[in-house]
Amino acid sequence: MTKILHIDSSSNTTSSNSRKLSAAIVAKLGGDVTYRDLATSNLSVISEAHIAAFYTPKDDRNDAQNILLAQSDELVKELFEHDVIVIGVPMYNFNIPGSLKLYQDLVARVGETFVYTETGPKGLIEGKKIYFALTTGGVPIGSEMDYVSPSLKSYFGFLGLTDQTIIGADGLAVDPEVKLATAFSEIENLAA
Ligand SMILES: Cc1cc2nc3c(=O)[nH]c(=O)nc-3n(C[C@H](O)[C@H](O)[C@H](O)COP(=O)(O)O)c2cc1C
Repeated sequence: MTKILHIDSSSNTTSSNSRKLSAAIVAKLGGDVTYRDLATSNLSVISEAHIAAFYTPKDDRNDAQNILLAQSDELVKELFEHDVIVIGVPMYNFNIPGSLKLYQDLVARVGETFVYTETGPKGLIEGKKIYFALTTGGVPIGSEMDYVSPSLKSYFGFLGLTDQTIIGADGLAVDPEVKLATAFSEIENLAA
């Protein structure tokens, strides 16, 4: 059975549209699902000590470094263990929510999720699909004020997740019913 990692990042835990859309994508794809809510995961801001530990070879890390990296290690393991990643992402102030940025800083691990080669960086999380359920209040997805789509594309592509699909519902502050209905019908048309 396909193993799906379902991640949400909206701080709204009760009536979030990106959460509804990400859940609909997961339901449509079907599989064995692990759920990760970044808004309630108490993710660490990476510190100087994190960076030092990231750049210390695995076998040379001391106990304190291993403890410090436990959360990051768990998140990285989770990414590798699944075939498909689905992430709910609301636009906050033209960009991704802080919880998703914390997550990104914790899973970009030199030597583990990416490496530098003579021809440039290479992502190590390969052979997986990633779906984004992206919502905005007013900014049109794909417009010059949308810093979310290019940022998601570049960041996850950098880690090797290049098979990307964005299901977007923009302008939800203006025309929520029509925009959501369009996004849900796009999800209905996804190949299971
Ligand atoms: C803190 C915050 C910042 C937001 N910033 C933007 C923004 O820059 N541009 C925009 O179009 N909508 C913005 N919105 C609106 C949200 O993107 C929109 O309501 C979206 O549907 C929220 O997703 P959610 O329902 O999953 O939480 C913002 C909403 C919040 C709460």
